[in-house]
Amino acid sequence: MLAKVRFEPSGRAVEVAPGTSLLDAARQAGLPVARACGAGGICGRCGLRVIAGGERLEPPSETEIVTRRRNRVSEELRLACRVAVAGDLVVTASYW
Ligand code: FES
Repeated sequence: MLAKVRFEPSGRAVEVAPGTSLLDAARQAGLPVARACGAGGICGRCGLRVIAGGERLEPPSETEIVTRRRNRVSEELRLACRVAVAGDLVVTASYW
């Protein structure tokens, strides 16, 4: 079963297979996501805010926690390259 990911404020949405990274879902929607490490979980620039559905996500991995801390990324953001879509989500970024 596919998961629907909606991106605000554009309202664009894509349906992706569970396990797809949030970064790939955003790319499929044609939305840019800041990044500098090629989705390696290092730069911390790909932070997105999950507005709804966050309870369906796995909690942040140790890599995500360390990367956020090292790059002073708010704990309210999830690193899109580290998050696997597990159900319907609504997300946003400050620059969309
Ligand atoms: S793209 Fe660098 S941490 Fe996600």
